Amino acid sequence: MDKTKRTDIFSHAKKWTLEAGELIRSKINDPLIIETKSNPKDLVTELDKEVESFLAAKIKETFPDHLLLSEEGYGDDIESLAGTVWIVDPIDGTMNFVKQKRNFAISIGIFHQGIGEIGLVYDCMAENLYVGLKDEGAYKNEQKLPSLADTLELEDAILGFNHYWLYENEIIDETITKQLVKKVLGTRTYGSAALKLAFIAEGIVDGYLAMNLAPWDIAGGMVIANEVGAVSTNLAGEPINMLTRESSLTCHPAIQQEIINNYLKKGLK
Ligand code: IPD
Ligand code: CA
Ligand code: CA
Repeated sequence: MDKTKRTDIFSHAKKWTLEAGELIRSKINDPLIIETKSNPKDLVTELDKEVESFLAAKIKETFPDHLLLSEEGYGDDIESLAGTVWIVDPIDGTMNFVKQKRNFAISIGIFHQGIGEIGLVYDCMAENLYVGLKDEGAYKNEQKLPSLADTLELEDAILGFNHYWLYENEIIDETITKQLVKKVLGTRTYGSAALKLAFIAEGIVDGYLAMNLAPWDIAGGMVIANEVGAVSTNLAGEPINMLTRESSLTCHPAIQQEIINNYLKKGLK
């Protein structure tokens, strides 16, 4: 993507993300209207919809030729990543938003001809904005994040991981993922895919296993994590399809093959 064009898109995206964060903060203590979606644990509130509608209106007004792939219904029906596509999750970590009023993020990934060019993940309660620009690096609140260290042993790694990997599921044999949990230094569950990926960029988590997530859960955070040298694939080690739900691994490159070959490929159903 042309650099001047990208800088212009980024400055708008950043401004709107900060404004959306302000909107969430201003309403954080208002009574919530909570609905459930695919299952009783899949929550959505009026504010998820309001934030997405705010971002969708800005994008459509300013960049009418861009497309939007988003969670709450204000986006386009998208069958390919041709052109410029914004992949937006207005609130990633809605359960945290509802129950904790923190530990959630606005997530935006901007792709051009299938390539992730811009990523923004905004933890608006902590006021931490993580951004990534392809081949220009990743930043937390304007501070450049260093590249990942050259080496890392799996036994020294912290993996972002949730409980779905540890009981019977349709994707992977849980006895294998239990072996992986045993091998690593530790695991962490934060309740927001976008934040987990931002934490990889920050170097405080070394990898994240995402089970059956939508493109908007991972698009923004992946661009940011990849900018410090993290690598992302599906569980078989192949490129991630950003048009569908998929399970994926984003991690430090030094532990990627060991996780895929010694654990994931052995357990995949
Ligand atoms: C959820 C979060 C969570 C992940 C869920 C996602 P949402 O997104 O990313 O970490 O485990 O599967 O659906 O629904 O809060 O936007
Ligand atoms: Ca999400
Ligand atoms: Ca969401």
